[in-house]
Amino acid sequence: MSEKNTKQNNELMEKIVSLCKRRGFVYQGSEIYGGLAGTWDYGPLGVALKNNIKNIWWKRFVLDREDMYGVDAAIIMNPKAWEASGHVSGFSDPLVECQKCQHRFRADQLEDKTKCPDCGGNFGEEKQFNMMFKTHVGASEDASSVSYLRPETAGGMFVNFKNILDSFSPKLPFGTAQIGKAFRNEIAPRDFVFRSREFEQMEIEYFVKPEAWEESFEHMRNQVISFIDDIGLDKNHVHELEVPKEDRAHYSKRTIDFEFDFPFGKKELYGLAYRGDFDLKAHQDFSTKTLTYFDEEKKEHILPHVIEPSFGVDRTILAILANAYSEDGEGEDTRVFFKFKPNVAPIKAAVFPLLKNKPELVAKAREIYENLKKDIPQIMWDDNGNVGKRYRRQDEIGTPFCITVDFDTIEKNAGVTVRDRDTGTQERIQIENLQDYILAKIK
Ligand code: GAP
Repeated sequence: MSEKNTKQNNELMEKIVSLCKRRGFVYQGSEIYGGLAGTWDYGPLGVALKNNIKNIWWKRFVLDREDMYGVDAAIIMNPKAWEASGHVSGFSDPLVECQKCQHRFRADQLEDKTKCPDCGGNFGEEKQFNMMFKTHVGASEDASSVSYLRPETAGGMFVNFKNILDSFSPKLPFGTAQIGKAFRNEIAPRDFVFRSREFEQMEIEYFVKPEAWEESFEHMRNQVISFIDDIGLDKNHVHELEVPKEDRAHYSKRTIDFEFDFPFGKKELYGLAYRGDFDLKAHQDFSTKTLTYFDEEKKEHILPHVIEPSFGVDRTILAILANAYSEDGEGEDTRVFFKFKPNVAPIKAAVFPLLKNKPELVAKAREIYENLKKDIPQIMWDDNGNVGKRYRRQDEIGTPFCITVDFDTIEKNAGVTVRDRDTGTQERIQIENLQDYILAKIK
């Protein structure tokens, strides 16, 4: 990246972070106490954006399919589950500490590994730092009560594999899906919500016959691509990286990282991994419970293999924000808008009376707003300032449509104006057609 590009991209991140705070998408975690590094709080618009993303994902991966089973497992699990998965022994990053200022860094992220970037001091010996958050379950705080906040949602699905088999008797291939929080004590949280210590994942464990993994891997690869399309990310900014053998886990025959051109560089957005029977085998060994599946064709018990597409919700949000951030005009006239695909936009439409001091306009606009809100809850009322200012405010939060009730609405039965965020063009729509018009656009 050239110096000019780096500057522009840093500025872009600053603009996004500041707009997110100002307009209620994302705030610094525990801000009034000076914050807590690596944590972020989502405000009303951020929650709406998040829920839209999670619903679109759940629809594609669970509701629209017959072979997917949703679960919502406990965040705190029996610690043996994390021994089985290898997290207790191996979920660590290399850590170095400056002997002068005591600041700690992830060794693999340092440009110069010999000197502290903060004070120039020398580093002590490199150590492995386990990223799981430890806690104690129950009233005693000894080694026997240690447990962890889950570092990924995957574990909760593997431990429920047998439950799903027993309750639903699914035939292979089938999958489990889970959306939920994950916690990692990252040494160096950074880049806004890209790398935080508490974040959300949307994960699938897709169980397959060992000999059929390639077909299912390809199917899931296409599903990931379709989801990226569902949420409106520009495909030119998404890149598939075939992870080379030496960088893959020993049990994986194939892993693809889906990378996105974030303002701070090309970085992992999602992962897709073929994990063989590593997880079920490990949980079977550690729990001593049989986790096999009876293959009717072969008339034998097998351990299914697994394909795991894994998505970060917060990285999705950041990718959508960066992808959608737009400016047009110049100087003081610059218009800032998020060009969200309408299905992810936190607010689908805003309704205004042209003038706030004309009761007949306000009454009609309220009636339209309340009727629309019954079927399109993500709708906003706005009567502050003049219409131009309201358009700007809605543009900034990415509202695709602004509906204005004017004198022609009342005097000439001429419907309302619907103004398009991206083009600024307006068309008149009859009130009785308004709901269908908006619904068709936001589907
Ligand atoms: N079960 C596999 C797994 O957890 P991962 O690559 O460690 O794989 C999956 O994480 C996804 O979770 C990543 O692609 C990313 O989207 C998200 N993710 C991981 N660590 C994160 C962090 N510290 N902050 C935000 N998102 C994170």
